[in-house]
Amino acid sequence: MPHYGDYQNAIYFAGLSGSVPEWPVDHAGLRARAEAHWPAAVRDYVQGGCGDEATQDGNAAAFDHWGMTPRMMVDTSARDLATTLFGHRLPSPLFMAPIGVNGICTDDGHGDLAAARASNVTGVPFCASTLANDPLEDVRAACGAAPALFQLYTPREPDVAASLVARAEAAGYAAIVVTLDTWVTGWRPRDLNTGNFPQLRGAVLANYFTDPAFRALLARPPEEDRQAAIMTWAATFGRVLTWNDMTWLRSLTSLPIILKGICHPDDARRAIDAGADGIYVSNHGGRQANGGVAAIDHLPAVVEAVAGRVPVLFDSGVRSGTDMVKAIALGADLVGLGRPYCYGLALGGAEGCAHVLKCVLAEADLLMAVNGWPTLAAVRAAGAIRT
Ligand code: FNR
Repeated sequence: MPHYGDYQNAIYFAGLSGSVPEWPVDHAGLRARAEAHWPAAVRDYVQGGCGDEATQDGNAAAFDHWGMTPRMMVDTSARDLATTLFGHRLPSPLFMAPIGVNGICTDDGHGDLAAARASNVTGVPFCASTLANDPLEDVRAACGAAPALFQLYTPREPDVAASLVARAEAAGYAAIVVTLDTWVTGWRPRDLNTGNFPQLRGAVLANYFTDPAFRALLARPPEEDRQAAIMTWAATFGRVLTWNDMTWLRSLTSLPIILKGICHPDDARRAIDAGADGIYVSNHGGRQANGGVAAIDHLPAVVEAVAGRVPVLFDSGVRSGTDMVKAIALGADLVGLGRPYCYGLALGGAEGCAHVLKCVLAEADLLMAVNGWPTLAAVRAAGAIRT
C-alpha cells in the first residue's frame, strides 16, 4: 500500500546517486527561496499582513503551544488519511486555501492553472479564488478529477454575484466558499509603503472581465477600456454581508455553502442555523485584521459549537505536516495550506507546488506512523494539549 511518507524514501534513494531535491522540503527553506525569487511587489503582497503583523506571525507560532502525546505498540504499518467532503472522496484532509494572487506567483502569470494542475496530480483539492488570472472554468478543468471549491468574494452587484456562482456551479465546483472578512482590505503597511495593490494594476481580474453580468456594467468592454473596467471592479468589489444575506446566498445555488472567516462559536452556531453547510475557521492569515487571537486557538471552541453537524475547515498558520496533524487533533475536518504552496508555485510552477503538498503530506503521514495513529479518527481521539 503506497503512503505519503514514501516521498521520503524516494528522496533518500535518489541521494544514493548524488541527487538532492530540486526545492527545499522545509518551510523556512522554501520561504527564503521564494522571497529571493519574486519581484519585490509580489513578495510583499504575498508575505505582508495587517498592521505590525502580530496576528499573522502569531498564527504560525501558536502551533508550538499545542502538543501531542505518542502511543506505542500500535500497528501503523498501514495508514489511511482519506476523508470525504459533501460526498466527495478526498485522499487526505489537506486542501489549498484560496489565494487571490496565485496568478502572479508564477513567472508566466498563470499560477491559478499551475495550482490546479498540482491538485490534479496530488488529489489535494484546490479552492480557487474569485481573484484569478485565468477564468474559473479553465481553472476547474485543470483540476481534472480532483474535487475543487470556488471561493466567492461577494460583489456589491447582486447580478454579478449570481453570475459568478452560476458559472462555478456549471463548471463543476463542489462547493462555494463565501469569504466574510474582506469587503474592505485590511491595513497592510508593506503594500501601503510601496503604493502597491495588484488588482488596481489590472492583475487577477479575469473572472470579472469574462463575466457577462460584470461586462454589462461597462460602457465599453475591458479589451477596449481596461482602466474603466478596473475602476468598475474597484467600485463594485466588496458587499458587506450580514446574516440577512444568507437567504439570498442560498437562493443562488444548490451547491453547499461554506462560510470562511468564522472564529467565534456563536457565529458558528448562527451560521448553521442560517443554512451554512460548512464552517471555515480562518483569520485570513492575519492579512485582514491585526490584534487577533491565533486562528488555531479559536478552533477547539468552534468545533465544540459545531458538534459534528457540518464539516469544519481550518487555515491560517499551517506550515508543515505537523501543523496539519495538530489541526486534525483539535477537530478540523479539512486543513488549508496557504502561503507555503505559493512558494512552490514561485519556484517550480505546478511541479513545485505539488512538491510542497507532498512534503506536508509525507511529514503528516510519518508523524502518524511514529505516534501510533493509523487513521484520522485515531489522531482526533488522541487530541492535543495546550502546553
Ligand atoms: C489570501 N487569502 C485569501 N482568502 C480568500 O478567501 N480569498 C482570496 O482571494 C485570498 N487571497 C489571499 C492572498 C494572499 C497573498 C494570501 C497570503 C492569503 C487568505 C487565505 O485563503 C488563507 O486564509 C491564508 O493564506 C491563511 O494564512 P497562511 O497560512 O497563508 O499564513
